[in-house]
Amino acid sequence: MAAPQNPRSILLIVGGGIAAYKSLELIRLLRGAGVGVRTVLTKAGGQFVTALSLASLSGEKVYEDLFSLTDETEMGHIQLSRSADLVVIAPATADLLAKAAHGLANDLASTLLLASDKPVLAAPAMNWRMWEHPATRRNCAQLRADGVIFVGPNEGEMACGESGFGRMAEPEEIFAAIRTVLDGRAVTKGALTGKKLVVTAGPTHEPIDPVRYIANRSSGKQGYAIARAAVAAGADVTLVSGPVDLSPPAGGRVIQVETAREMAAAVDAALPCDIFIAAAAVADWRVASDHGEKIKKGSKGPPELKLVENPDILAGVSGRREARPTLIVGFAAETEKLIEYARKKLARKGCDLIVANDVSPEAGVMGGDENTMVIVTPEGETRWPKLGKDDAAQRLIEYLALRLAQREGV
Ligand code: CTP
Repeated sequence: MAAPQNPRSILLIVGGGIAAYKSLELIRLLRGAGVGVRTVLTKAGGQFVTALSLASLSGEKVYEDLFSLTDETEMGHIQLSRSADLVVIAPATADLLAKAAHGLANDLASTLLLASDKPVLAAPAMNWRMWEHPATRRNCAQLRADGVIFVGPNEGEMACGESGFGRMAEPEEIFAAIRTVLDGRAVTKGALTGKKLVVTAGPTHEPIDPVRYIANRSSGKQGYAIARAAVAAGADVTLVSGPVDLSPPAGGRVIQVETAREMAAAVDAALPCDIFIAAAAVADWRVASDHGEKIKKGSKGPPELKLVENPDILAGVSGRREARPTLIVGFAAETEKLIEYARKKLARKGCDLIVANDVSPEAGVMGGDENTMVIVTPEGETRWPKLGKDDAAQRLIEYLALRLAQREGV
């Protein structure tokens, strides 16, 4: 990766987790890209890596103690907290996140986080149960609301022998996130300022006659949550919504439609945009014949309904030669073979990534308040933990802001 044009600097807080060894590699990557790194080693962090290793790799003094007379006379902790362009916490332990969320300041790392006026990027690392604990969920939600940017954690095997979400993001991932933030493309509030986003949501209703229709179980909750998160990130949002029982997101433009064909036309009219997200559960078929009057029960028995295929909105937008959005996101709602089908859909629809959801009745996604998203891209797939639909939406928007920035930066 190329070095940023202006020399930049990072204040790296190394917390107490086995993943601290990866921070050594992170320092190496940063230094290689010409980024200056000052490190703060917490007491717990010092159990995993030594100040000597950090100093050797960073070429800088390592700060460990809030009450160090030498450090305070050379560079006070307030000055230190503002000395870099970005504060990075890696590994960000449950303890460090809890302290930061509550504004505690009882050691050097927490005091720096409270005193700093710079953006903060956190790379959490902990046992999966700690990560999923409601206390950690609350703390992360608070930190996100405060503007902290998260990278990871990932799913995988942990040092404790258990497997799940909590593995720290790889140094390369953290490095890429740092670069994005340093390039002024942070995924905090305002990450999508000046960007136009179009999202479809809800089901479509396909009339059989003036009183009956074909529908599906989509509640529209995830699409609406995405629209809200995008508004919060500063985007100019157009939500094209099928019939749902939800309040329109404040600050967005809502276009209400009923059928797939109306949805396709509304999306078309809303383009061009930077990001298109097809979260709607569009009915695949509609009734071929147009019954102007209510179908009556007759002597001929039940009516035979001939179905014809609806336009594929996502494939249509992805296939545009002109005014194709920079980033196109599809959803794959599957009841089996989630990844396999999602990957096929990615290829078939020509979009840039697929958010795959398990919608088998056991998963409770359809109509429920939680969602487990798997992000499927041509490069691979990442499974996110089960999150409330608002948190999942926020995470998706952060992720998309990063990807958009990376695309535009190419
Ligand atoms: N989609 C769309 N227009 C359609 C059908 C689907 O824009 N007519 C979009 C959905 O919004 C979603 C993605 O395509 O983002 C996948 O939808 P899904 O219903 O899971 O896929 P299908 O095309 O119906 O494929 P399959 O029948 O194999 O599930």
